[in-house]
Amino acid sequence: MKKITFSALLQLCLLMSFAQIKVQGLLTENFTNPIALGVQVPRFSWQLVAEKRNTMQTAYEINVTTDKGSAWKSGKISGSQSVQINYAGTPLQSDQKYTWKVRVWDNNGKASPWSEAASFKMGLLNTADWKAKWIEAGYVEDSINRPAILFRNQFALAKKIKSATLYITAHGMYEVQLNGKRVGDAYLAPGWTSYNKRLQYQAYDVTNMLNNGNNVIGATVGNGWYRGFLAWDDNKNIYGKKLGLLAQVNVVYTDGTTEAIVTDDKWKSTNSAIKSVEIYHGETFDAREEKSGWAAIGYDDGGWKGVNLLTTTFDNLISTENEPVKKHETFKAIKVITTPSGEKVLDFGQNLVGWVIVKAKGNAGDKIVIKHAEILDKAGNFYTENLRAAKATATYILKGGAEETFEPHFTFYGFRYIKLENYPGEINPDNFTAVTLYSDMKPTGTFTSSNALVNQLQHNIQWGQRGNFLDVPTDCPQRDERLGWTGDAQAFSRTASFNFGVNNFFDKWMKDVAADQLADGRIPHVIPNVLGPDNGGSAGWADVATIIPWNMYLAYGDKKILETQYPSMKAWVKFMTDKSKNDLWNTGFHFGDWLFYRPFDDNDGRSAVTDKYLIAQCFYANSVQLLINTSKVLNKADDEATYTALLKRVKDAFLKEYVTPSGRLVSGTQTAYVLALNFDMLPENLRKQAAERLAENVKSYDTHLTTGFLGTPYLCHVLTRFGYSDIAYSLLLQQDYPSWLYPVKMGATTIWERWDGQKPDSTFQTPGMNSFNHYAYGAIGDWMYRQMVGLDTYEDGPGYKHIRVKPHVGGGFTNASASLQTYYGTLSSGWKTEDNKILMDVEIPANTTATIYVPTTTATAVTENGKAVSTLTDIKVAGTEEGYVLLQVGSGKYHFVIAK
Ligand code: BGC
Repeated sequence: MKKITFSALLQLCLLMSFAQIKVQGLLTENFTNPIALGVQVPRFSWQLVAEKRNTMQTAYEINVTTDKGSAWKSGKISGSQSVQINYAGTPLQSDQKYTWKVRVWDNNGKASPWSEAASFKMGLLNTADWKAKWIEAGYVEDSINRPAILFRNQFALAKKIKSATLYITAHGMYEVQLNGKRVGDAYLAPGWTSYNKRLQYQAYDVTNMLNNGNNVIGATVGNGWYRGFLAWDDNKNIYGKKLGLLAQVNVVYTDGTTEAIVTDDKWKSTNSAIKSVEIYHGETFDAREEKSGWAAIGYDDGGWKGVNLLTTTFDNLISTENEPVKKHETFKAIKVITTPSGEKVLDFGQNLVGWVIVKAKGNAGDKIVIKHAEILDKAGNFYTENLRAAKATATYILKGGAEETFEPHFTFYGFRYIKLENYPGEINPDNFTAVTLYSDMKPTGTFTSSNALVNQLQHNIQWGQRGNFLDVPTDCPQRDERLGWTGDAQAFSRTASFNFGVNNFFDKWMKDVAADQLADGRIPHVIPNVLGPDNGGSAGWADVATIIPWNMYLAYGDKKILETQYPSMKAWVKFMTDKSKNDLWNTGFHFGDWLFYRPFDDNDGRSAVTDKYLIAQCFYANSVQLLINTSKVLNKADDEATYTALLKRVKDAFLKEYVTPSGRLVSGTQTAYVLALNFDMLPENLRKQAAERLAENVKSYDTHLTTGFLGTPYLCHVLTRFGYSDIAYSLLLQQDYPSWLYPVKMGATTIWERWDGQKPDSTFQTPGMNSFNHYAYGAIGDWMYRQMVGLDTYEDGPGYKHIRVKPHVGGGFTNASASLQTYYGTLSSGWKTEDNKILMDVEIPANTTATIYVPTTTATAVTENGKAVSTLTDIKVAGTEEGYVLLQVGSGKYHFVIAK
């Protein structure tokens, strides 16, 4: 009896909680409980959780408080906006913590309880908040090896500590300790920005790391991007010649008084055991010179030197805007190999970016040398030629005695294999752990299908992103390059936004794009620009200025990136306009359709070489179009009119210069047709035949692509848009090169720079440019998510507020599914073919609406959860369109069966 009552009660509770609406996942400026925000108007986002279908928010209320009282009471505000709501309370104060909560009302007349509290803390908003001084080594550095520098300071805190925040940054890369313990889990800090204009500081809550009494703070600073070798020809010291540190611990005592511990002339400095460290070349650590306990109390720093103070202004300091680089997955070696030439090699099974933590026991002075490589050559030997000048070597000198553990600090390697030289004793794989390093982006997307090779391709795309989203989007992580190539980043940006949360990552980097934009509007080829002012303005590279902000707006619905980047977008378009004659932009240097595939012995009169100025005109038009879109979103009617008129002229000039009256392009290549069609360069009446020519071209290469960096991202989209999904699928499934699956068949675990990085006979493409971890061609991921599975957002409800689910069932796949963590919650869709039916499962998050395209011609063929869709009140049949029945739905989980 008792039991029945209990379970009935439980059921009732469950029912009540289902009927209930909840709010969760509170974000401030896209972070969970961030500290050190640098904006005066942070934005709040939250998610609604509701089991009931069609749940929409109708109103919300936010309360923001400090320990001194209320900072903002929004009152009840009508509307369904639950993402990026601007703070509108009393002005926020530097170094202050705020808590906030929110409750919502829904369209079923329900109110949620108040959410759990979230918090945010403001950073140092004014330069006057910095009491610290920049310090540099107080001795003459070894200018050849440039060892890392240790900075140290002992200080006493007299009273009981209520809270303490460490604000810190460096000229170079730093790691910091308090009382002998590492502070935080960020690596390669302060990250890479255009330092002269924007240098990020980090903040750490160190309340629990400090003692009432004596304390020690110690920081190690190495070359990093600041003054290390970057780009080529021994190019170094790009931002300065000397390493420096700036640190300030703001302490609040329980009695309400405050104190700041700062870098000043009381600090000491000396050389560290990191004898040399370079991003490209790796790190040498001599454990015999390690200063045991140097960052803790009791260490005698009598032999250390003082520091030099700098009188720098703090104008370039900004709070950190993206997720820091952190450690992620770890790998154990899957194989220990002795290569034909006798090298001792460990295989970690995955091409990754990070380093190896090594344990060793030996004699003082034993010198272990570890080299890194992505691939073994045809004979099975360790292959490093493609690293070019990058030495990518870790050298560890043992102090001897007990087992020692080593890992580098201010470098990273792109590798799958390591070669060991002089390792003392037996090589036991347990003593080697590869650990990945990348920006701490939240994983947001999954994709899976019935084809194992395509699933491996997805794996490779995601690993290409992991390895190359290392504070800036790098082209590659292994050779002497690792730069923020703009073309690669724009090509991959939409795919990137599916796999991981990249809004903060790109927000920050796009500000560097704007910061480094040249006075005439040109965007440098790499950002941060380390190639100098002469390198910029290439079509498809410089268009990063318009393409990424727009892609981020679509992916996250965040207007702010458009507002922030608008002047930069305009300046880039103005540059192209200035360089054009009669609206034709046909001057200057361009990379063109970089690394397109050029068949060796192609005597058919075809060519995969696309006229660079034809490409430039297409990207020009696209950038103008994105500016029109943006001016609409930002309500800038005058600009909209100006750019609309410009676009017409740019397209007319294109037609006049590059298209015959019957619609043939002067370059008959795949990329030419792809760009002309994707960017709507041709009038409606010429599009069909152009798509036919594209399809024919693909077939003429035995259904292979020939596109490079610029054509590839749009190729399958264009084919699908013009009714050639079957060809898009054939390209996706093509296994001989050039194709996406060719590298997969060759055992790739990341995306390659070139379609044929390794030839079928296992020989390599030219080592001068042959990275095996280069994400650009991974841009096919966008097609897999948006067309194959069909997860997309409408432009009028960006950020998946208004969702389109439009799968393309085909390619012989028996299933494909994907999920995406949107701001609103989980969006997912998957299809599965069975003998005479298609099953489709879709999940739409609360507070969004969706149009689901069900692949059939009549609604009578469709049931949802066993009932004919036409009889359901929570699904609206909205008509048919080219082989689909359109259903309008709200949030909820849907299970469709479609009779064939
Ligand atoms: C990089 C590319 C980049 C290209 C520009 C290469 O060295 O690795 O990915 O876009 O140069 O042409």
